[in-house]
Amino acid sequence: MVSAGASHPFTRAVEARTDDVRFDNFSLFLKGQRIFLYSGEFHTFRLPVPSLWPDILEKVKAAGLNGVSVYTHMGLINPAPGVVDFNGFRALQPLYDAAKAAGIWVVLRPGPYINAETTAGGIAHWATSEVAGTLRTNDTDWKAAWQAYVAGIINVTAPNQISNGGPVIAIQIDNEYSQNPVSHAEYFAELEAAYHNSPVVVPLTYNDPGQGRNFINGTGAVDLYGLDSYPQGFDCSNPTKWNGVTTNYQQYHASVNPSQAWYIPEFQGGSFDAWGPTAPGYPPCRVLTGPDFQSVFNLQLWASNAKLINYYMIFGGTSWGAIPFHGVYTSYDYGASITESRELTTKFDELKRQALFLRSSREFYQTDWVADSSTGLSISTNAAAFITLLRNPSTGAQFYVARQKDSTSTAVTTFKLTVSTVADHLQIPTVATGITLGGRESKVIVTDYSFGSSSKALYSTASIFFAGTIDGRDVLFLHGNSTQEHEAAITLTGTPTKLAQPTSPQVNVTHSSSLTTFTILTGLEGLTTLYDSDTQLILYADSATAATFWAPVIPGATTDPLRNYWSIGTNQTILVGGPYLVRNANLDSTGQQLTLTGDLKESVRLTVIGPKTVRQVTWNGDSVAPDTAVTAPSANGGTFIGQLGLHSDVTGITIPKLTGWKFQDSLPEVNDASFDDSTWTLANKTTTNIPLKPYYGDGRILYGCDYGFCENIVLWRGHFQSTGQKSMNLSINGGEAFAASVWLNGVFLNTSFGNSTNNRHILEETDDKFTIPAGALKSGDNVVTVVQDNMGLNETQSSPNSSKSPRGIRGFKLDVGTFGAWKVQGKVGGYLGFLDKTRGVLNEGGLFGERKGWHLPGFSTAGWQQRDLSQGLPGQKAGVGFFVTTFNLNIPRDIDAMLSFNFEETFGQPYRAYLFVNGWMMGKRVGNLGPQAKFPVHEGILNYNGSNTVAVALWAMTPNVSITPNLQLTLDAAYEGGVGNVQVDNPAWSPQGRE
Ligand code: GAL
Repeated sequence: MVSAGASHPFTRAVEARTDDVRFDNFSLFLKGQRIFLYSGEFHTFRLPVPSLWPDILEKVKAAGLNGVSVYTHMGLINPAPGVVDFNGFRALQPLYDAAKAAGIWVVLRPGPYINAETTAGGIAHWATSEVAGTLRTNDTDWKAAWQAYVAGIINVTAPNQISNGGPVIAIQIDNEYSQNPVSHAEYFAELEAAYHNSPVVVPLTYNDPGQGRNFINGTGAVDLYGLDSYPQGFDCSNPTKWNGVTTNYQQYHASVNPSQAWYIPEFQGGSFDAWGPTAPGYPPCRVLTGPDFQSVFNLQLWASNAKLINYYMIFGGTSWGAIPFHGVYTSYDYGASITESRELTTKFDELKRQALFLRSSREFYQTDWVADSSTGLSISTNAAAFITLLRNPSTGAQFYVARQKDSTSTAVTTFKLTVSTVADHLQIPTVATGITLGGRESKVIVTDYSFGSSSKALYSTASIFFAGTIDGRDVLFLHGNSTQEHEAAITLTGTPTKLAQPTSPQVNVTHSSSLTTFTILTGLEGLTTLYDSDTQLILYADSATAATFWAPVIPGATTDPLRNYWSIGTNQTILVGGPYLVRNANLDSTGQQLTLTGDLKESVRLTVIGPKTVRQVTWNGDSVAPDTAVTAPSANGGTFIGQLGLHSDVTGITIPKLTGWKFQDSLPEVNDASFDDSTWTLANKTTTNIPLKPYYGDGRILYGCDYGFCENIVLWRGHFQSTGQKSMNLSINGGEAFAASVWLNGVFLNTSFGNSTNNRHILEETDDKFTIPAGALKSGDNVVTVVQDNMGLNETQSSPNSSKSPRGIRGFKLDVGTFGAWKVQGKVGGYLGFLDKTRGVLNEGGLFGERKGWHLPGFSTAGWQQRDLSQGLPGQKAGVGFFVTTFNLNIPRDIDAMLSFNFEETFGQPYRAYLFVNGWMMGKRVGNLGPQAKFPVHEGILNYNGSNTVAVALWAMTPNVSITPNLQLTLDAAYEGGVGNVQVDNPAWSPQGRE
């Protein structure tokens, strides 16, 4: 729709496969349009409710972003050799459909290795035990292992490429890897060949973990190189300690791939958080990577001339079930712009201000990096301000990115800039005292900036929130911090209306020939009209007020599959102020009816700046009455003011207390002397593909994954004949922060804690001597029962085979005599035959109650005893019991309510609790380790209009300690709106395979 400009030297492989996705040395082109890809990372598997994916994508779109980057999870999609399952939350089609509906591009990152703080970095667990060769190399059995998965990804994705009218514009090869040794490079080449020998035509991309120059040339080189970057690191405990920006990205890009657009496939958008009582939780991660960080660090990326940027994460979600790798806990909130509960934050506001500027400023997509303050650009009156100049070679528009020289500085720095414009050399601002950086703040100052169809700003020291054409008028919406002065010099056009002269004493207007200079003095808040004519509208607001505005895209022609994509399918937009969220705006064919949808937290004033043809505005289906008592920001028609009220009492939703718990012991292996393990798997292998071999024993391999039990709780039973034993030694590996409890016959011996010291010294494995108390040994057959947690398999950035993690018993010996049979049991069926195809391979473990399906809705607890969860296990014993209760929810359908399950007892009790909500394992609570006590659970997992089942598998790890978990459901927030029609897919208990 917009002309792409001059012809460009497109890069080889890309041009060969599709014209729809190209790039030159400046930026990406989609369908011939120059694009700044401004995107956020979203893992659908971390929100296992496909009907909520549109919610995330609409929020991404409302932020003004135009893309998402999506890892898919081999372990979930390909749970067993040859089995590829894109059903339920593993599906990609609903993501592609929602992306297309939102006008959001997708960069797919299918791995097979994704890292992502997920178990084995996403590699299917079965492959970690079945592949003898090295994972992520050209070894033939690893190559065989990924074929079905990659073929599946290609099958579902190829029809959704941009060339077929879909949202997919690129596919990343694996993740963060080195090109050496050659076995790595050839692995990349093999993955690329799989895509090249398929209908995939979009470019293949790469994510370099450091400035390693990998995969630019040579074997395995990708089409588009990218670098990832987490400059702030991951220690959220010191959230105001900044590391400072990386300053050499432009030089690095210029030296490694100057003919390609500069791509940052992952830039820090938050932080993960680790297990342990000193882990700070996510609120400080959101401070560490807060709006000030976004301002300074994101703009530094812009200054490096990056034109494809993805923030990791935009929405983190939940590492439910066995999704996490052993370093992280259930919540993957990540301190992201959108919270785990799907709420918007002040980080979202900052991202929106940035993204709408980029969406508005096409001249910025093609810029030469000219110079910066370290390379001879000395144009600032204050050396404490560091300036980078980017210039559009076709239009002459200039972008001065200003930051503190010391990027961590909290000082207030004021300066003027000497700029050269079409008009003259100028020192700006001319009237205001200067340009101010209020501490940790960066800015883009524009000169010779075009907006709308034909308007020009000579310069603006105020930031640009929005620029464009609305109903034929050129609109410019500036913003700035109200404690600072700002200035813009604009060539005004058209016949002014009565609003043309701002009345506020905080706006100073001077005219000189064709130029009008607006100086905004400090203290100006709210929305101010600077100029209003039949051809132009110039607005200013303080930055906080600006963030209350939205610029929804009006979809283009219904016949265009890409009608929702900004600058491809449509160039039409409006401005809407007031609501918590504006999701969609549509105009009917006559242009008279404007249909808005979105979310409200409270009653607000609605301001619409749109086409003059509009006669009626509806909000979520209701007509909005115009409010003529309020002065509109424009007197030129097309501006509408109304009031939006709440229909429902969003604060009046009642959430039931969790009561009526039923209890059943879940450890018959210990508590029932006649327990029969004859159906369990005999653990008699003496070889394993897992490189870390047993420490001691008799050669038998007791690693769960070698027997099909690769995740969650696994039970071991070791039989031996009594010969007067007094002790045994066990070395147990469950990954960081794991635990394993050990019984002999019916007697508790001890728990091995991966967190024994209860501090940050978190162990991946233990090696303990278990003393056999008097009377525990029986004559004849004795059995030791080990209940062990598996916290997830290792990631493998540096050494590809470390995902082959030895979870299980790495050493076993009796002080006298030897073990007879070892038996093992994990989830029913293991990875080859697991029962719950809906919730998937990572949901269940091997506790007796899980094997029987006690966690599932519909299981009858009729014969169980009444016992409150807060009473813990009977007799203060170490053990495992199941607590189950049901409750009803009745939440009005037009409310998006954010609920969470909270463990409210005081921290420190030695227990683990596995929280199952309608059968889904939505939380792992470790009472004595933490930090997580609050577990958000979405509608779709919860049934908001009916009955719900919550089950807690409570594992008390120490006897004679009162363990009193107090679990309650809380309402954290409620909004009128939401996406509605959230589908519930929670299959009920069935006896098949469980009895
Ligand atoms: C990156 C990696 C991501 C994720 C991130 C930290 O290096 O590519 O998968 O692990 O670090 O959250």
